[in-house]
Amino acid sequence: MSPVFSFAVSNWAPQIDAAQQQQLVDALESGHVVFLPDLTFAIEENEQPIFQSELLGRSKNISYLPDRRLLKGSQSSGAELQALQGLMARFAGATAQLTTHLLGPYCGSLIQARTSFRPVEIVGRQTSWRKDDSRLHVDNFPSSPCGTQRILRVFSNIDPAGQPRLWRVGEPFDSVARRYLNTLRPPLPGSSRLLNTLGITKTRRSAYDHFMLQLHDRMKADASYQQHADQDNVAFPAGSSWMAFTDQVSHAAMAGQFALEQTFMLPVESMRSPSAAPLRILEGLMHRRLA
Ligand code: SIN
Ligand code: FE
Repeated sequence: MSPVFSFAVSNWAPQIDAAQQQQLVDALESGHVVFLPDLTFAIEENEQPIFQSELLGRSKNISYLPDRRLLKGSQSSGAELQALQGLMARFAGATAQLTTHLLGPYCGSLIQARTSFRPVEIVGRQTSWRKDDSRLHVDNFPSSPCGTQRILRVFSNIDPAGQPRLWRVGEPFDSVARRYLNTLRPPLPGSSRLLNTLGITKTRRSAYDHFMLQLHDRMKADASYQQHADQDNVAFPAGSSWMAFTDQVSHAAMAGQFALEQTFMLPVESMRSPSAAPLRILEGLMHRRLA
């Protein structure tokens, strides 16, 4: 099975019919990356200097909270800071429109979370193995537990130098979960409350989040798995966009610079097929409720 489902749209408020919307939702829920090859996020004149800024290289991730209009992780100031914030606010707006138009079945259920700008070239980036996103993994948030929510992410490659963003996409979630099931250890009694009390997590970490973080780590720590697991190379050209449930799709970012990303949360029960959610798959394998 190809891990990519391509769809031709070229503007951020595309008019498509209900059957096409269902097709897109089904592609996402069955673990595909929905690739939008013709969907370019255009950079405005006043935003061009951002890409030359020496300040960018210092942060792997600059994040923006659309609901609070709050930018975090940037060393910029003055006009550059304004332009950066403007860029990210525009992307937040564009992706909100896009998901409204493309993913009708999720209307009213998608919650817009953090926007991120990823200005650092992936090749040669120094990180710990756990933070190394060039290793296949599924996403979960250590400090913001997902509970019964999915992670849907929209990406756009805005590299002015025109380089593609290269990913590897691994095996289906069910296979990943079965492979590591016997290595997953339950949380220590009281740990969820303690993490929350200490402020390490914003809410109580569910057993589901605990197991997803372990799965993320097991995958990244397994060099043989990284090399030998079923996988495909996927190139996202500059000027293209794509989206995926990254809590489900095993992915690794191998090369590329300058991407924008918008995270949305979706309650599992708002899916067309909740049984495809990592939460439900893990619950099935472990024979108990996890969130
Ligand atoms: C990731 O979510 O692991 C990184 C994806 C990217 O920055 O392209
Ligand atoms: Fe990731």
